[in-house]
Formats: sequence, C-alpha cells, structure tokens
Amino acid sequence: MSKSLSVVILAAGQGTRMKSALPKVLHKLAGKPLVKHVIDVANALGAGDIHVVYGHGGDIVPQTLADETVTWVEQAEQLGTGHAVEQAMPGVDDGNMVLILYGDVPLIRQETLTQLMQLASAETMGLLTVSLENPSGYGRIVRDKSGQVQRIVEQKDANTDELRINEVNTGMMALPAARLKDWLGRLENKNAQGEYYLTDVIAMAVENGIKVQTCEPEDMAETLGVNNRQQLAQLERLFQLHQAQRLMFEGVTLMDPQRFDLRGNLTAGQDVIIDVNVVFEGDVTLGDQVSVGPNCVLKNVNVASGTQINANSVLENADIGSDCRIGPFARIRPETTLADGVHVGNFVEIKKSRIGNGSKVNHLSYVGDTIMGAKVNVGAGTITCNYDGANKFQTTIGDNVFIGSDTQLVAPVTVNDGTTIGAGSTITRDTPANELTLSRSKQQTLKGWTRPVKKT
Ligand code: UD1
Ligand code: CA
Repeated sequence: MSKSLSVVILAAGQGTRMKSALPKVLHKLAGKPLVKHVIDVANALGAGDIHVVYGHGGDIVPQTLADETVTWVEQAEQLGTGHAVEQAMPGVDDGNMVLILYGDVPLIRQETLTQLMQLASAETMGLLTVSLENPSGYGRIVRDKSGQVQRIVEQKDANTDELRINEVNTGMMALPAARLKDWLGRLENKNAQGEYYLTDVIAMAVENGIKVQTCEPEDMAETLGVNNRQQLAQLERLFQLHQAQRLMFEGVTLMDPQRFDLRGNLTAGQDVIIDVNVVFEGDVTLGDQVSVGPNCVLKNVNVASGTQINANSVLENADIGSDCRIGPFARIRPETTLADGVHVGNFVEIKKSRIGNGSKVNHLSYVGDTIMGAKVNVGAGTITCNYDGANKFQTTIGDNVFIGSDTQLVAPVTVNDGTTIGAGSTITRDTPANELTLSRSKQQTLKGWTRPVKKT
C-alpha cells in the first residue's frame, strides 16, 4: 500500500452503561485510556494522520489526551457510525487510504490491521469480520452464492434467514478515501434505528464494482468492545494474561500469571522471579536475578541485578542498586537512590535520599532529604526530622556511622564519618568524626517509691 494512511477512530459513544461521569473511552485498561490504546496502534501502523471523533460535551477527551498528535473532531449529535466517520472526512485527503477503528475496542493488534490494509486498494476494500457461535447484536455479513460479500445487515433490520448468519461485522475496515466520501454523502437513515449506518457503504462499494475482501483476526478478543465495567474487567484480564505470557516466554518466572498486573512497560533481565499480586506501573526495569515478593507495587523504578524486594513493599521513582534487600513492608518514595548492597527493612520509609553502599536501615525508620554514606548502620526507630512545618532541611551522614536506636536527627545536621550516636539521642548539632555522641538525660531511681493504689 503506497498511499498515505488516514485513521479515523470513533469515540463519540456516551457509554451510558459504564454509569460513569467519565466518557467511556477515558476509562483505563492497563493504566491507559481505552482510546489511547487505539491511538498507539494507529501510530504504530505509520498513520499519516489520525482523526478522533468524540462526543458532544466530551471535551474532557481531547483535554486528557492533549499530548497526542491527532485531529479532534466533535460529533455533536450521535446520528450513527456513518455520520460519525463523515465528520472526520473534511480533514482526509482524497488520495489517502482510510482505516476505521473504534475507541472502545482496545485490543486490536497491529498485525491484524496490517493484514486488513493489504486487502484495500483503489479497486478493493478490506473488512474485518469474525464468525460467532452467537452472533446476536452484531451486523451480519451477507454473501452471494459465490461467497462474495454483498452487504451488511444490522441485527435490528435483519430477517430470520439473515439472523442465522454467523459471520459478523467488527466495524473495522480499510478503504480508499475518495470512494468513502462519495458513499458517506449518499447514506440514508431509513432503517430500524433511524441512524446513518457506516455499514451501508458495503452495498455501495459492491454497486460501484469495488470488491469487498475480508479477513479475520487471529484472536477474537481483538474485536471486543467495552460497554460496561464487567467487559472492561474482562478485557483487562485478557490483556494482562497476554503480557504475562509474553514475559514468561522471555524468561521471567511469574508465580501466577493470573495475578500479575503491568500498567506500563517492564524490562526484565535473566531469571527474574515475580511472586503473586505485584503491580508494575510506568517504566520498570529489573536486572538479572531480581526477585519481587508478593503484594509489591513498583512504579517507575530501576532495580539492579540480584536485588531482593520482599513482600508488601512499595517503590516509586527510585533507583535501586544491585544485591539490595528491601522489605518486607518497606516504602521507597520518589527521588531515592540506593547504592549496592543496601538493606531497607520493615516499616522503613525513605524519601528523596541517597543511601551509600552497604548501608542498613532495617527497622521502623524515616529517612527523608538525606545523603548517607557507605556502611552506615541506622538503628531501629531512627527518624530524620526534616520538616519544621514550613521548610524541608537536609541531613548528611558520612561513612561508617553507627546510629543507636530511637535517635532523632534534627535537620539541617551533619553526622560525620565514623560517628557513633548513643541510643535515644536527639541530635541537633553536627557530630564530630569518630567519636561517641549522645544526648540523654541521666537515669535515676527513686528509692522506696510505691505505686499508687485505687481509692475505695
Ligand atoms: C456497529 C455496526 C455493526 C457491528 C458492530 C460491532 C453499524 C451501523 N453497525 O453496531 O455492524 O457488528 O458495530 O461492534 O456501524 N459511534 C459514534 N458516533 C455515532 C454512533 C456510534 O462515535 O453516532 C461509535 C460508538 O462510540 C462505538 C461505535 O461507533 O464505539 C459503534 O457504535 P454502536 O452504536 O455501538 O454500533 P453497534 O450498534 O454496536
Ligand atoms: Ca447502535
């Protein structure tokens, strides 16, 4: 196909059955709006221009997808699929090939559409069909005795013989723009639904000597649309299962592919093991031999080889070195960098901090706005007091520091190399290197003191 490709995506449907304030095509599948899946596949096909037909009052659709290089076409009144496509036609060059897609049919694959487009030329058009055991609700493909497509009849307009046809219209088609414009201009709405049917162009094509050639997708799921939240969930699971299968074939162990969610891109090295109920969001990279325990959430993180992320840990916008041990129950917040061999244990939160090689923060700590050197041991319950209610302050910790349990480091403060801090200290001034520093009131005992007793 040498002509330039124009893709028209129909997305004006109200989506009433979603029972949502949000237009249907903005509901997310794998973390991405339904219509964005379709825009992405159109771009992957090398479309010269993409026209998205959205509904009246649905301005939130172009607003949400403002970064997309598409032409937004408003269809103020929904008068049918033919009418919808017609709205986009003024922006389509006569010499182009047009591919029609649907904003609520997100699983359609590039390979299938390439095949469909190969069926279209100046004298032919391509139509994607599927054969269903239960074709109820769909437009039926009517063929003549020699098997040539003659027309499409909608369920509501079909007679009993036509209703028995199993081959149905998916709605996706590829056809020359000039012809399409001509046919759309001649559509009428004298049918059971009083709509301008796109499907009526099929009979017009046949009349004009344009041969209608069909193909079927490899997987019927590619043609499934979303009308309600049950179908949305069903397509989500199908999509996730495909991603899970691809990763397993690439060498990733998934303890249960049914309990795996990737909402973005995951790049994994060799012998990565992912336990159940892990959610990946954005762009995540896992090095060789990384293991991720159950119920973790990883969003936009890089994890170097050999690192173990234990159960129930949440990591976001962070760089994790090799051979680290994180969790269970650890939270790594944005702008955190862990060098190699770092241990972050249970109920530890680290925010906007750099932790040096081999340092350990193992229990119940908050480390924020901190630069920490190598081989530091942070005792249980240590807190950086980085916030005075108005501003954030930096804590700097050198190498080989030992911080006793239940220490507060009141920022801005520097703990120099080799410092030892006694347990229970509140550190408000910089500590000298290689010395023991502590702030602790003297322990005292009141001899002979007795506990109060309840008055009767
Ligand atoms: C349509 C086809 C039918 C096919 C089925 C596959 C027609 C007349 N019928 O029927 O042959 O089997 O899809 O699912 O085309 N839309 C607009 N503006 C409109 C009307 C529809 O943007 O004015 C969009 C909808 O948002 C939806 C798509 O077009 O994404 C299909 O519309 P819908 O009314 O659901 O068509 P069906 O009746 O399912
Ligand atoms: Ca309809």
